[in-house]
Amino acid sequence: MLVTGAAGFIGSHTCVDLLTAGYRVVGVDNFVNSSPRAVERIREVAGPAGANLEFVELDVRDSAALSKLLAVTPVAAVVHFAALKAVGESVALPVEYYDTNLNATLRLVDALREHGPRRLIFSSSCSIHGDVDVLPIREDAPSRPTNPYSRTKAMCEQILADLCVAEPDWHVVALRYFNPVGAHPSGLLGEDPRGTPNNLMPYLQQVAVGRREFLTVFGDDYPTPDGTGVRDYIHVVDLAEGHRAALEHLADAAGFRAINLGTGVGTSVRQLLEAFGAACGHELPYRVAGRRAGDVAELYADPSHAAETIGWRASRGLAEMCRDAWEFQRHNPGGYDGAGA
Ligand code: NAD
Ligand code: WQD
Repeated sequence: MLVTGAAGFIGSHTCVDLLTAGYRVVGVDNFVNSSPRAVERIREVAGPAGANLEFVELDVRDSAALSKLLAVTPVAAVVHFAALKAVGESVALPVEYYDTNLNATLRLVDALREHGPRRLIFSSSCSIHGDVDVLPIREDAPSRPTNPYSRTKAMCEQILADLCVAEPDWHVVALRYFNPVGAHPSGLLGEDPRGTPNNLMPYLQQVAVGRREFLTVFGDDYPTPDGTGVRDYIHVVDLAEGHRAALEHLADAAGFRAINLGTGVGTSVRQLLEAFGAACGHELPYRVAGRRAGDVAELYADPSHAAETIGWRASRGLAEMCRDAWEFQRHNPGGYDGAGA
């Protein structure tokens, strides 16, 4: 398997899952949002199977480097994680986001048209839907992305769907993740964002370990049971297993298909604060502030399509997500490189 963005949060966990399931993995990354340490950790966590990881540092937009790699290293399928992913940053740097996310996908498709395989899993996001009218979110809900990041994901999905119409020998699955959190239970792999975390769980992790003073709760006046925002948090190891299930399914399904990877369970900010406090053994300080621009009250998946098509269902609950995230954070208080920010 070729895995792009292999050193990132979801990519690193997926590499471990694929290696321990017996696959040979070629990982690539340019470390724009990750550390070479993550590659060492993948090998360590995978144990003897770690020897089946080949890693190449490259930018996926570099067609020549990709072509050279695929010419000498044939792979059975590709999982394409490499992208920039911060919603707020994408509003400030739209050109950089369109450049990276669209060109990485387009150049990868070029290389696969030349060398094969025509089998691709694409990392998409529930945020392509924007404000939804109907919950839980099904795959056929309208696509109305509200920021450049989410538009890059919707555009890539469209490009891949059009490709599958024009060239029917392609097998493509866009996996739409809800809110990936947690870490590998070993405490060796986890989420290590650069700078101040944008997302709730990594922020909470850093509050728990004393790197941040308190959590700012963005709004407690939403029309939800406790007034705080509700999301569908999914354990990153469940997510990794979802990629393997989709890869195994690619063999028999040509064309383009989008599949939600979520749990179907909504959790509020207050519920997550409580669950994380229980996992780390102390209450976490927080202050309630106003709503964050662009946030919606509630989002959670209808995960039934994944169960029907690829036989996958999330099996890890909130307590396990918090336990594993805490295990990673307390063993790596300053992240992989120890510096922190
Ligand atoms: P991440 O930033 O941890 O991982 C992405 C990896 O891609 C990083 O290691 C980065 O260095 C690498 N990368 C970026 N541009 C590259 C390029 N041009 N060439 C080579 N490598 C490059 O993010 P993640 O959370 O692991 O997300 C993985 C994928 O899942 C992304 O496509 C993201 O948009 C998508 N996604 C993430 C979430 C989430 O909340 N984490 C939700 C939905 C979708
Ligand atoms: C979750 C909840 C916040 C931080 C984003 C992207 C989405 C996907 C996942 C990539 C909300 C609240 C947060 C904080 C808070 N990524 N919050 N204090 O916004 O659901 O989704 O990440 O594809 O595309 O949009 O995730 O973790 O930022 O927020 O109160 O310091 O936590 O208001 O209710 P979000 P999040």
